[in-house]
Parts: sequence; C-alpha cells; structure tokens
Amino acid sequence: MRLNNLQLVNFRNYNNLYLEFNKKVNLLLGKNGQGKTNIVESIYMLSFGKSFRTSRDKEIIKFDTENLYVGGSFSKEHTDGLIEIAIGKNKKGIKVNKIHIQKIHELLGNLNVVIFSPEDLRLVKEGPKERRSFIDKEISQIMPKYYNYLTNYNKVLFQRNQLLKTNNVDEALLDVYDESLARYGSYLYILRRDFIKKIADISKNMHFKLTNSIEELSITYKSQIDINDDDTIDSIYNKFLDKLVSSRKHDIDVRTTRYGLHKDDLNIYVNGLDVRLYGSQGQQRTASISLKLSEIELIKNEVGEYPILILDDVFSELDETRQKLLIDNLSVVQMFITTAEVSHINIFNKSNTTIFRIENGQVINIENGGN
Ligand SMILES: Nc1ncnc2c1ncn2[C@@H]1O[C@H](COP(=O)(O)OP(=O)(O)O)[C@@H](O)[C@H]1O
Ligand SMILES: [Mg+2]
Repeated sequence: MRLNNLQLVNFRNYNNLYLEFNKKVNLLLGKNGQGKTNIVESIYMLSFGKSFRTSRDKEIIKFDTENLYVGGSFSKEHTDGLIEIAIGKNKKGIKVNKIHIQKIHELLGNLNVVIFSPEDLRLVKEGPKERRSFIDKEISQIMPKYYNYLTNYNKVLFQRNQLLKTNNVDEALLDVYDESLARYGSYLYILRRDFIKKIADISKNMHFKLTNSIEELSITYKSQIDINDDDTIDSIYNKFLDKLVSSRKHDIDVRTTRYGLHKDDLNIYVNGLDVRLYGSQGQQRTASISLKLSEIELIKNEVGEYPILILDDVFSELDETRQKLLIDNLSVVQMFITTAEVSHINIFNKSNTTIFRIENGQVINIENGGN
C-alpha cells in the first residue's frame, strides 16, 4: 500500500501544506527543528488516529490557532481510500472515506504504517515495558480486536488496583474483577503467543541477512504463567484465575496486582545467549532492527500488502553497511525517511526517490525522481 498525498492545516509548524508522494522513497531533508518529524507524525496519525509523540492532541495544533486538519489518500491493490482527522480544542473527528467513525478500531488497519525511530534501536536493551508496548501496538495494528481486549484488560486492572488500595477490600467485587481479568488475559495471551511465534521466525531470517548468517536470533514469549502449547483458551483462563486467586493475600498486602499480562516480556537470544545480558551494544542494536523490521513482513503476511515504512532520524545512527542493507532489503515498501545529513543522498537511487527540502515549516524545494 502507499500514501499518495498529504494535506496539513495548522498542524505543528505547518500552516497549509499539500504534498504528493513518491511510490518508493520519500526523503525529507532539513536541519533540526524545521518540521521533518512533524510530517511523519501526521502520516502516523492517519494510521493510528493519534500521535506517537504525545497523548495530548492539543499540543499538535499550531500555536495560536484553533483547529487542525490532516488528510491523506492511500492506494491498496484493490481499493483506494481517504483518511481525514480534525482536532479542535475540545473535539476530535476522524473520517474514513468521508464517513465519521465512532471507534478507533474502525480506523486501524486502513493504512498500515511501521515507524522506526532511534528509540527502537534500544528495543532489546530497554526494560520490559517498551517491549510490551511494541507487542501491543503491532498486534493492534493487524488485529483491531486485540486493542479492544487490551483496553478492557487495562480498565479492569486499574479498577482492581484501585480496589486493592481501599482499607476494607470487598472480596466479592475482587472475584468479579479476577474473572474478567482472567477472561481478557486469556484472549490476549493467545494472540500474543501467536504473534510472537510469527515474528520470531521472520526476525530470525532478517537477522541472518543483517549478519551474514553468523548470528542466530531466537525470540520467545516470557510470561509469568506457566502455559504450554496444548493449553486451550479455557485452560489458560483457569491458570490465570488460579494465579490471581493464589496471590490475593499478597496483592491485598502490597495493594497492587502481581500477576498478569501486564508483566509479560520477550526472551531474546543470539547464538544461544541472552543478548540483553551478554550481547554487545552492536548486537543489541542489530537484534532490535531485526525485531522491529519483522513487522513489515508480518503485516504483509497478515493483510496481504506491505505497510508503509517511516524511518525517522535512524539513518544517521546506522553505519553505511547497515543503511545500504536496510534500503536494499526493503525496496518493495514505500518509505519516508527523515534525515538532517545530506551525505546519505548517494545511497539512494535517484530514479525512485523524491527529495523534499524542509525549512521552518515549509517545503522549500522538491526534487522529483519519477514515480
Ligand atoms: N503546536 C505547534 N505549533 C507550532 N510549532 C510547533 C508546534 N509543535 C512543534 N512545533 C515546532 O516544530 C518544530 C519541530 O519540528 P520537528 O518536525 O520535530 O523537527 P525536525 O525537523 O527536527 O524533525 C519546532 O520548531 C517546534 O517549535
Ligand atoms: Mg525529528
């Protein structure tokens, strides 16, 4: 799939901008603070309905203005579509093909976007929270119902933790929360397990490519609850419930929920060793790239088309070999690459690259390399 064009009104430092994009590579060039990330942020919003930089929509509206608009048309193999988002001080509306949507999951999946930022290079090195958030975002994107389960799970978890903080815990109510937590937890568990198996295969292959087959990457699901492949949704539910019930006394004492999906993580091994503990920084970064980029192939397998890829400021963080490997291995996807460094231009094939030069909230020059 690809994004054909983009219109921004009062979006961050843009007044009014209309761009048409290259089917292959779109290079956004400019010094720091000029508005490169703002453009990819708006593209990300068309996919997810919200920013990856802030959860406060108001921040995105151009200073001293009231309303913003982002619109973009996309093309897939068999369909075309238009996504539009309008945000005012206290309101927000999203339209797909001119029809207002009510729930965010009606937006997800229309335009699939994979974004790679410098933080993703630390995906392997960071704590479990970042990896869980990676997993949650990726599954939500290919399976909107996952997002609903997760929202419900988090709601119940929050209520349970609130209840645990009261002085005389109402155990009958706790029973109700435990059952719902185990129910949503078992749905989420199955989907996570499936997802992790798939990305494990894909990222192993990607990692072989990036390391000349010297390193074997192996990724598995790390959960506190002892579940095996034969477990069904019902037996997983029962195991979760048992864990919650057996930990009840402890939870009441410490006033928070010890077990559950909100503690999951990934085991990440390179040539049999835990790369978080024993890997060099270079190995951790390469493993992060393999893991992160596995989403591209996964989305292709799940939805039948490649997503679009945003590389925001990662180029300058990679050595030239990695830069080239990345571009060459991903030539099938439409890319949006932001960078401040002009020396990278030589890596790109001019015939399929459009270069947008950005200065202070304006695109001051466009070099069109054909479509
Ligand atoms: N709501 C806003 N209204 C106007 N300008 C904004 C707003 N939010 C951020 N900016 C401006 O956007 C610029 C940063 O843009 P960004 O896309 O992050 O830069 P970069 O080119 O380094 O990626 C800064 O100059 C900042 O002041
Ligand atoms: Mg930036």
